[in-house]
Amino acid sequence: MKTFYITTPIYYVNDSPHLGHAYTTILADIIARTQRQRGIDTFFLTGTDEHGQKILGAAKAKNVSPKEFTDSIVVSWKELWKKLQISNDFFIRTTDINHERTVQEIIKKLYEKGDIYKGNYSGLYCVACETFYLEKDLENGVCPIHKTKTEYVNEESYFFKLSKYEKQILDYLESDKAVLPKNRKSELVNRVKEGLKDISVSRTSFNWGVKFPFDEKHVVYVWFDALINYISALWYENDLKKITFDKFWPANIHLVGKEILWFHAVIWPSILFAIGVEPPKTVFAHGWWTVEGQKMSKTIGNVVDPNKMIEKYGLDAFRYFLLKGCSFGEDGDFSETLLKNTLNNELANELGNLVNRTTTLLSKFCDSKVPKPTKSELIDEALIKESQILDQVLIEVDLYNLNEMHKKIWGFVKAVNKYISDTEPWRLEKTDKERLATVLYNTIESIRLIAILMYPIIRLC
Ligand code: MSP
Repeated sequence: MKTFYITTPIYYVNDSPHLGHAYTTILADIIARTQRQRGIDTFFLTGTDEHGQKILGAAKAKNVSPKEFTDSIVVSWKELWKKLQISNDFFIRTTDINHERTVQEIIKKLYEKGDIYKGNYSGLYCVACETFYLEKDLENGVCPIHKTKTEYVNEESYFFKLSKYEKQILDYLESDKAVLPKNRKSELVNRVKEGLKDISVSRTSFNWGVKFPFDEKHVVYVWFDALINYISALWYENDLKKITFDKFWPANIHLVGKEILWFHAVIWPSILFAIGVEPPKTVFAHGWWTVEGQKMSKTIGNVVDPNKMIEKYGLDAFRYFLLKGCSFGEDGDFSETLLKNTLNNELANELGNLVNRTTTLLSKFCDSKVPKPTKSELIDEALIKESQILDQVLIEVDLYNLNEMHKKIWGFVKAVNKYISDTEPWRLEKTDKERLATVLYNTIESIRLIAILMYPIIRLC
């Protein structure tokens, strides 16, 4: 039996989910649903990243303990995924005991192997992205992603011997589907070729994290902790007794935003090499959404709340727009006007009208039953030929060409609309009942195919 394992990043729960988080999760859901629909045993993982300085700071600001804080915030994330009909098989939290135990086990193993050693870290740190920076990587002295000031850190720290895995990482990055889209690869390769430095994997200046197993003064660096979620979710059987690591690992795809590709395609595989586990088959980096040309930010006040969007335009329109409105792998720009136009022009006028026209004709002329077709004409053959393009939809999904997948389905929607306009079934009732039956049969059969292929995207109930 073939299996398929797909993951989203685990999200920081310092705040409520927004458009960007919904995007990654919905696109992963579309892929997971497509795989399940074709009979592949699929495991879809999402969850929350709950340790680290950023979460601790957010909890302090609310005057509650970090665990109380994450327990309260995680609810809004789970609720949103439910509303968006996300079909994840498991929701991991890095505060889950099984996860923490797995992290500790791995740290121990690496220490015993000599791949983790004690030292001192001094350098720059951005709390917003929980990342260490070199002076040269800053942009005008601030974090290149968050445009915020970094802080100077100087503390005792354990290090992971990333440098040891340089050659293995370069080979991995060169393999065919390790990093997608392909144009993201060269930047990574060049950076690795500049030389991999060992990374700090523990902190002592605060204690909100997984305790180092043999040195409780230290907590595990939040990214080291977080990446391990992809295996800890399978490693221990949790509630899902049937799920085993052997069955689903290596992951078919880690879907991540472009800003965290380095962690997933370089650091994570190195940790896996160090513990003797295969790396993921693909790390796919998608682009970022801006909103009406601007970066989403609280200060600007343009953060898009997915809850509001689905209240206003419905779940179908939101999911459909996120797939269609951005080329998968590249950046996209969100605007409510575009979302509304897509809903009206494509979902309502093209698909909705097609279904509506056909069911009205069926109820009027065929007692709402699917009629039996008779002889085919050239125009019918042409439509059937067009429908063969649909065989390629799954090939596009396998290559993660989600926009091509959509284009193929939508090309067919347009073709069926044209077929109805050209055959004018509403005129046939009086002149040629057999022909009417054939035309309506072909139309309803086409709608059936469209419904199946669109199922991972819309109308999920
Ligand atoms: N906790 C880390 C990930 C650890 S995974 C082992 C993290 N979390 S995050 O909450 O900041 O979420 C990051 C993810 O949210 C990005 O990878 C991306 O998927 C998504 N996005 C956040 N803002 C986004 C946009 N404006 N547009 C598209 N997606 C972006 O990083």
